[in-house]
Amino acid sequence: MHKAVILVGGPSRGTRFRPLSLNVPKPLFPVAGAPIIAHHLAAVAKIEGLKEVLIIGFFEDNVFANFINQAAIDYPNINVRYLREYQALGTAGGIYHFRDEILRGDPKSFFVIHADIACAFPLQGMLDAHSKHRGLCTLLGTKVPREQANKFGCLIARPETNEVLHYVEKPDSFISDLISCGVYLFDSAVFSEIKNALDNKKNAHEENDYLWSAPDDRLRLEQDLLRPLSEGRKLYVFETQNFWRQIKTAGSAVPANAAYLEQCAAEAPERLAKKQPNGPEIVGAVYIHPSASIDPTAKIGPNVSIGPRAVIGKGVRIKDAIVLDNVVVNSGSCVLHAVVGWDSRIGAWARVEGSPVQGHSTTVTKNGIKSQSITILGKEVSVKDEIIIRNCIVLPHKELKASFHNEILM
Ligand code: GTP
Repeated sequence: MHKAVILVGGPSRGTRFRPLSLNVPKPLFPVAGAPIIAHHLAAVAKIEGLKEVLIIGFFEDNVFANFINQAAIDYPNINVRYLREYQALGTAGGIYHFRDEILRGDPKSFFVIHADIACAFPLQGMLDAHSKHRGLCTLLGTKVPREQANKFGCLIARPETNEVLHYVEKPDSFISDLISCGVYLFDSAVFSEIKNALDNKKNAHEENDYLWSAPDDRLRLEQDLLRPLSEGRKLYVFETQNFWRQIKTAGSAVPANAAYLEQCAAEAPERLAKKQPNGPEIVGAVYIHPSASIDPTAKIGPNVSIGPRAVIGKGVRIKDAIVLDNVVVNSGSCVLHAVVGWDSRIGAWARVEGSPVQGHSTTVTKNGIKSQSITILGKEVSVKDEIIIRNCIVLPHKELKASFHNEILM
């Protein structure tokens, strides 16, 4: 029997996902037509013998109620529950706090998956690799461009055995381009190591600064647990060549959306839009909610998701974008490399435009000025006719009557 834990954080996290996280908790933001964590759930549901998924975070209890009700319909054989931390306990603290729930039913192993990633989730491959070594954890690893590696948890592994010899979270200087993806498979026996990590942290606190601060129950999976596991030779890596992306900034939802749509085109093309006799031109992988209305002269795609009740006018061009519920885009307008927030309105002959994302970074530097590659319109933004909004982040409820470039509009 296996289980899975999805770490969703809480309202104080996801700040880099603003302005989109002002209206929906980041784990529930739709990419490729489904909440971010619905993709996690679909992946774990494919594992034979997986009986329970525990969503652990510090959001209010009711935040995941609709998601869990839908999960009960979609996956009747899997018990999906939300467990709420009384405060932010860190990426390993919550797992330890709810250890009795995780261990109930005596699972042999359990997955722990960060909510803020988009991934092909090669979980069966991880299970197979895990059964072949004597470690307590197999983590999913991937190679990233050398110059971006220090933004992640970097690891050095023995190539013949995949044993992790060294793990450093966000190192100051380059140590490796192999990084941790935020997907772990743990043996149930790992809880004694987590207890040791917690005790070590408390002891260090008592020795160093007990006079100045109260000890806390927070424990970080990466720094406090993976490091000692690698030092004890109990950590292994399973490297994937398939897609993986972090969803940190609001702009990073756009490449995540593209990656899931492309996966869908290969594995479940029936979910995607197809050219109909009197329908719009569709290019590449496109998801259109059945309640959206698209003018037949529009051209959509590739890598576009269009949400419920959106209305797309004559001659509109949309590419590499997420268009959310109830958006109206009037005739002749262009939406490229952008997210258009709920209930927003784009006038006629307007442009809402970003630039393509380079690697894992969602900022671009042009003439020495750093700006957002993806343009984001928050909820209920109105862009008037013939206005151009380029490489901007626009907060909710703004009315834009002039064109803007490289700005955060509040
Ligand atoms: P940053 O780049 O600093 O954001 O680090 P990171 O990529 O390692 O991410 P981080 O550790 O902040 O979070 C990883 C995942 O764990 C995200 O999905 C978070 O929402 C989640 N998470 C972070 N802190 C907590 C916590 O205290 N409790 C729970 N349950 N989840 C958390």
